[in-house]
Amino acid sequence: MSENAIGIFDSGLGGLTAVKELIKVLPHENIVYFGDTARVPYGNKSKKTIIRYAQQDASFLLSKGVKMIIAACGTVSSVAVNLRNELPVPYTGVVLPTARAAVNATRIGRIGVIGTSATVNSGSYKNEILRLNPELTVFQQDCPLFVSLVENSFISPEDPIVRLTVERYLAPMKQEGIDTLILGCTHFPIIARAIADYLGDQVTLIDSGRETALYAAALLQADKLLNNSTEAGQCRYYVSDTVEDFRRTAEIFLGTTVGSVVSHINPEQAMVH
Ligand code: DGL
Repeated sequence: MSENAIGIFDSGLGGLTAVKELIKVLPHENIVYFGDTARVPYGNKSKKTIIRYAQQDASFLLSKGVKMIIAACGTVSSVAVNLRNELPVPYTGVVLPTARAAVNATRIGRIGVIGTSATVNSGSYKNEILRLNPELTVFQQDCPLFVSLVENSFISPEDPIVRLTVERYLAPMKQEGIDTLILGCTHFPIIARAIADYLGDQVTLIDSGRETALYAAALLQADKLLNNSTEAGQCRYYVSDTVEDFRRTAEIFLGTTVGSVVSHINPEQAMVH
């Protein structure tokens, strides 16, 4: 079992932020990634649809024999909250590890949360932060256009479209004087440099992909499911739409070639074996 892969899914490219960190923390683990690029974005869909998509995505990963599932998606983690009870393997979403990191990072108790509309409307991060420390103040803003920017490869911090969109969404939070910002959608760390440039050094950015990867590593260790192999782990990527666009942005973001290991699948036909 410990040699089986870790399964990670997201609506598209965002979950790669968790993959990148997981490779750093656990270089010997095999990874199966699924990006539901045909149905992205999830963040403006109904609760019922998001839950159905999440169940299909997890079923696909289970069909690959994964030993753990990570929903590297703020939207799924916020809305499909019962998914963990439906799975036969350990599971984590992104909300708990990310909220915890933000609570530890803030010095003045003013935390911003950005995510998709579904995530912000669910209040998931805000509730978790206030559960951990009711004294803190939380400001929320949904930034749905960030997902489209990333999915369409508009990721350079020098790109005027990226800079303008960042400024438009984040000006109110900057004015509120936050010192910590949760990138509550896993797509957002891909444009973190543009966000950091705008907010300045005094604001700590909390990367949901990174925090979740660290948390998942700790869970695997606790469950004695770490791969003992000394070989470098293999990553396989699956997408539900064309592989070319995914490949291009994935390679820029991961800094490695993913060419031959990306395949197309239809999550609606995924069967659990
Ligand atoms: N990356 C996802 C998230 O963390 C989903 C973005 C979307 O599909 O709207 O919320």
